[in-house]
Amino acid sequence: MIKYKILTIIGARPQFMKSAAVSKEIHKIKNFSEIIVHTGQHYDKSMSEVFFSQLGMSTPKYHLKTGGKSHNEMIGLIILEVDKIIKKEKPSLLLVYGDTNSTLAGAIAAKKSNIPIAHVEAGVRNFDEFMPEEVNRYITDRISNLNFCVTKKGKNNLINEGFTKSNISSKLIISGDVMYDIFLETYKKVSEKIYSNISKNIINSNFILCTIHRASNVDNPKILKEIIESLNIIHKEIKVIMLVHPRTKKIIDKNKINTNCITLNPIGYEETLFALSKCKYVITDSGGLVREAYFAQKKSLFILSKPLWPEINEENCSINVSPKTSSILLSFSKLKVLNSSFKNKIFGKGNASSVIVKEIKSFLQHNA
Ligand code: UD1
Repeated sequence: MIKYKILTIIGARPQFMKSAAVSKEIHKIKNFSEIIVHTGQHYDKSMSEVFFSQLGMSTPKYHLKTGGKSHNEMIGLIILEVDKIIKKEKPSLLLVYGDTNSTLAGAIAAKKSNIPIAHVEAGVRNFDEFMPEEVNRYITDRISNLNFCVTKKGKNNLINEGFTKSNISSKLIISGDVMYDIFLETYKKVSEKIYSNISKNIINSNFILCTIHRASNVDNPKILKEIIESLNIIHKEIKVIMLVHPRTKKIIDKNKINTNCITLNPIGYEETLFALSKCKYVITDSGGLVREAYFAQKKSLFILSKPLWPEINEENCSINVSPKTSSILLSFSKLKVLNSSFKNKIFGKGNASSVIVKEIKSFLQHNA
């Protein structure tokens, strides 16, 4: 008999990987069931479906169509739709991941119906309130009952914001990184496979894997031009393979930005890890890929003025840089000679999902 129903809200590419790891653990527990809601924030096949098949994920019970809209429209629509689902399904707890619009909207809908919330990847801060994700993080953390922090820094960020037992009824748990769990499971098998859509571009390991998608880096064509100009110059020295997010593609096409480096459409999770396993360096503005680069022991350049994961910089494995051609070139030359240490297990032991599900179980047994 099902006793506890978890309602999981996902919608953007990195959330598919994260929830795949946790879903596996949920399924191991008797009396637990999971209902997945895909908000539709990411809707292209290469940004969504491919992840479900590669990660062996269950098909979402609900698929909302909220992608391609303004932030407020998207958030409003998700709140309305998740509210209906909550009324129908009566979940015991709502589970959200990361810092996207889907995360925030799901959490608000749950809070307004008095459904407890568990937030995976809580406490991340880069102290830039103009970044849409930072706003999503603040609010989601504040209304969640269980905040699962990837690292000690994440927990400290919340404590510094006043998250103490007497102040805010939220439990803070350092769980480690669910992305590390799924990485460990997938990385071993990808190096033995051939991925025809990417392999032809990878003749040797002397290349840089690159992704750029942050609103602050791409929405202003002048800034994107600065970044691409630096990639074009670096490409003359070492091949740059750029996986182009639809958001970035739109701005490149509209403004006819000249890209000399190799540009490819987004690829699946396995293909990305395969490319990562073969590359020499990573240049990105993705908080997910910068961690995966660390897991794979590749040095990275992170194109954002303030770090998202300062722990990686402290280990000399990544350099943060603002989106200016000259700064990127200078930082790249520093990166090449950086004496990196990949020894610390910053992101846990690869058992974050099991820590999270055990904690949720105990919470529900005591509170539901
Ligand atoms: C979102 C998250 C970001 C996360 C990223 C992962 C927010 C505020 N941002 O950014 O934190 O790092 O996902 O990729 O939630 N688009 C398509 N096809 C798709 C998906 C998007 O064409 O499958 C287009 C949209 O129509 C839109 C643009 O790309 O024009 C941006 O999409 P959106 O979901 O708003 O934000 P991301 O940049 O993907």
